[in-house]
Amino acid sequence: AVNRTPLIAGNWKMNLDHLQAIAFVQKLAWGLKDANHDFTAVEVAVFPPFTDLRSVQTLVSADKLPLAYGAQDVSAHDSGAYTGEISGAFLAQLECQYVIIGHSERRTLHREDDDQVQAKVQAALKHNLVPVICVGESADDLEKHGPSAVPVAQLRAALAGVDAAADIVVAYEPVWAIGSGKAATPEQAEQVAAQLRAVLADMLGQDVAAKTRILYGGSVKADNILGFMREPNVDGALVGGASLDLTEFANIVRFQK
Ligand code: G3P
Repeated sequence: AVNRTPLIAGNWKMNLDHLQAIAFVQKLAWGLKDANHDFTAVEVAVFPPFTDLRSVQTLVSADKLPLAYGAQDVSAHDSGAYTGEISGAFLAQLECQYVIIGHSERRTLHREDDDQVQAKVQAALKHNLVPVICVGESADDLEKHGPSAVPVAQLRAALAGVDAAADIVVAYEPVWAIGSGKAATPEQAEQVAAQLRAVLADMLGQDVAAKTRILYGGSVKADNILGFMREPNVDGALVGGASLDLTEFANIVRFQK
């Protein structure tokens, strides 16, 4: 992670309502402050459900908490007859910095394809949200095509039409490692992250490749984070289950300690 500020991000998925979110974010921020966490050295972000975002915004701005936050998805459209969708304009209005796009649960449970992911990346950038573009292979893909082919193809599709000046984050989440307790090894994560960085260099140029953060996600815990963070192409983590446990998540954030 040479010259790139690590990002530790918690994807809450469909957990914690807005009242629970307020309590959690308050405790997380104050706990980290008490532990003298340097938020400029390791950035911390949370991705609560949509219905929590207004409460998180109010808390973060009122208490000037050094936490970033974002949504777990965004519509490809700005407004109109799209029942159940959320516009990037609304997220920007709530001062979200980030939005997760193309998480494997969206790709599989909601049948999102590469074209939709690409359109959502464009929508995020249009509203000045940093897309956290998720890519990753299933166990079946891994067996048939090896670790890199599917994530590389997904990233290429997601980046089509993206301007070289765009600020993006990439998250490599092997589907077989998500929620399974069976994380990739740091070497496996590094191997794919290096391939993804090569895609960034090829499509957006060397400078963008050098500055873009690539996260690893999939059964990250306090006791395995350091191994990932030691790899040169892994710049942080997108944490699911363990991000819902205050102590565990704080210990992931404080991986250097
Ligand atoms: O987006 C994070 C996620 O998919 C990983 O989940 O529970 O394996 O950390 P988990």
